[in-house]
Amino acid sequence: MRRLRLSRSLWCFICAIFAVSAQESLNLDTLYSFSGASLSSDPTFSLPQVQQLTVSVAICSTGTTSPVFLVNNNTASTSTTDIFEIPLDSGFGNWTGTTQQGGSLVVQNVGQTSFQVAASTGALVHELIPALPFLGDTTNTQALIFSPPISPIESSPPTYPNYTLPPANLSVPSPPLSPPAFSLVIAPTSSGLASGMQTACSINSTSSSGLVVSNDLWLRDKHGWRSQWLINDLTPSTNYTAYVIQDQVKLSGPVYFTTKSPSFPCPLVHSLPFCPSTSYTVPLPFPQSPASSYDSSNLPQSVSDPLLQYMTNFTTMLLMFPCGRDLYSPLQTCESCQEAYRAWLCSVSFPRCAESPSSSFSPSSPTPALTLPQSGSNARNPFLPNVSFSYQTVLPCLEVCSAADRACPNFLGIKCPTPRFNAASSYGVGFIDEGEQGVLGGGSTGVAQDRWGNVWCNPS
Ligand SMILES: *[C@@H]1O[C@H](CO)[C@@H](O)[C@H](O)[C@H]1NC(C)=O
Ligand SMILES: *[C@@H]1O[C@H](CO)[C@@H](O)[C@H](O)[C@H]1NC(C)=O
Ligand SMILES: *[C@@H]1O[C@H](CO)[C@@H](O)[C@H](O)[C@H]1NC(C)=O
Ligand SMILES: *[C@@H]1O[C@H](CO)[C@@H](O)[C@H](O)[C@H]1NC(C)=O
Ligand SMILES: *[C@@H]1O[C@H](CO)[C@@H](O)[C@H](O)[C@H]1NC(C)=O
Ligand SMILES: *[C@@H]1O[C@H](CO)[C@@H](O)[C@H](O)[C@H]1NC(C)=O
Ligand SMILES: *[C@@H]1O[C@H](CO)[C@@H](O)[C@H](O)[C@H]1NC(C)=O
Ligand SMILES: *[C@@H]1O[C@H](CO)[C@@H](O)[C@H](O)[C@H]1NC(C)=O
Repeated sequence: MRRLRLSRSLWCFICAIFAVSAQESLNLDTLYSFSGASLSSDPTFSLPQVQQLTVSVAICSTGTTSPVFLVNNNTASTSTTDIFEIPLDSGFGNWTGTTQQGGSLVVQNVGQTSFQVAASTGALVHELIPALPFLGDTTNTQALIFSPPISPIESSPPTYPNYTLPPANLSVPSPPLSPPAFSLVIAPTSSGLASGMQTACSINSTSSSGLVVSNDLWLRDKHGWRSQWLINDLTPSTNYTAYVIQDQVKLSGPVYFTTKSPSFPCPLVHSLPFCPSTSYTVPLPFPQSPASSYDSSNLPQSVSDPLLQYMTNFTTMLLMFPCGRDLYSPLQTCESCQEAYRAWLCSVSFPRCAESPSSSFSPSSPTPALTLPQSGSNARNPFLPNVSFSYQTVLPCLEVCSAADRACPNFLGIKCPTPRFNAASSYGVGFIDEGEQGVLGGGSTGVAQDRWGNVWCNPS
């Protein structure tokens, strides 16, 4: 039996298997991995003696038996009132209680089961994180995927008289110093990953599809930093399931996505400091090899320059308002206005390519009107180079425009079309918020995209 102390942000452990004596002690804040094959039957582990103890268990793989995990927190007594079964849900279980009189953990029917166990006085070690990974977008063979956010950004707002707004070409703040260790697991949905054990060690034993081209931390929005993966070499027109594992013990997912058909023409655009949440396919010519996507290093200047100029000019106009001295709204500030305008400008400057959602998962997708075919030349952004292919787009969510309208002073004259007057020809209307009655999505989805890979409108 070997064990390693936990570092603050990283659980390390050794998968090697060791024979265990009849009563092995489990130390606090240490992750243990066991394989039933090398344990005695009904192995027993003694637990640390503390006021409040949390025991968490994760099944990594099972044999033919169904193991039962029992905690006894009164080893002096044989009374069954001090014996608790740890209920397992998709391979994961936890128990919290007091072990002031000492305690032990017994595993019955262990068979060939491999499992992990950890005892701590703080938070649970194994966890199914409620926040999901975020799908940027897919091409025929690529996917852009983000972990759930960590370290939300809290910046202090600018103040009068030195009311400074971020420059058009935002500078990316430095990422957190010791981020969790993230890993991504992708498998064809047909492999049934989501119906097996939903534990990090079980999911991690699946070999992941695709080839990681890049993996870095990216700040898409104020929710925080995310690990960002660009994956190549996936199979076209295939349903995939994805999970993110954090610090080897916490699992997030599953989310689902479908790669586009083989002839899908649009490349991915991502990692632009001036449009931090742009992370989807855009009608641009395929980038020059060896690049397989666009980021700020190879995006044509003919596209970025005008966008930065719009942003700069808008900021200049905005600062004509005595920002921070006078209020134009009880809720909004020049800073929130600039942010909302940036989101809108990016979403209309970079149209989002799409494919008819016929091949997507959708139990309840309010389909075809969502992807309006457009011709190869783009009416919205005259600075995009002409492309030789035709494509379809997902329109920006009307809420992106409404948010800028709401956040900015009136004198800037931001006007969004109303659902009554033809907004649906340029925006995705009524998917997130309730539109007027009878209008496109009718508020049916409440979100711009879901974990099944459906995208109703482009949120950014
Ligand atoms: C801990 O176990 C209980 C059942 O005993 C379960 O309801 C709960 O969701 C578990 N906690 C977490 C964070 O998974
Ligand atoms: C065992 O745990 C239960 C639940 O936390 C608690 O009520 C009980 O007092 C504990 N027994 C001992 C001997 O600490
Ligand atoms: C104004 O604020 C900016 C950014 O916070 C800072 O860099 C600059 O030094 C400040 N200028 C003055 C005059 O305080
Ligand atoms: C934006 O700033 C970064 C450095 O922060 C620079 O590398 C990049 O070229 C700039 N982008 C544009 C379009 O000016
Ligand atoms: C996950 O798998 C990789 C390679 O397959 C391995 O190196 C790593 O130790 C595994 N981690 C866990 C938590 O099982
Ligand atoms: C930005 O302002 C400059 C100077 O006022 C002007 O020449 C330029 O055309 C403006 N650019 C855009 C995109 O509005
Ligand atoms: C992907 O999943 C959807 C819904 O489950 C199904 O209709 C479709 O046929 C699948 N596509 C492929 C290529 O397996
Ligand atoms: C794209 O083609 C149209 C029509 O052929 C032309 O007017 C326009 O200038 C071209 N745009 C660019 C950016 O080359």
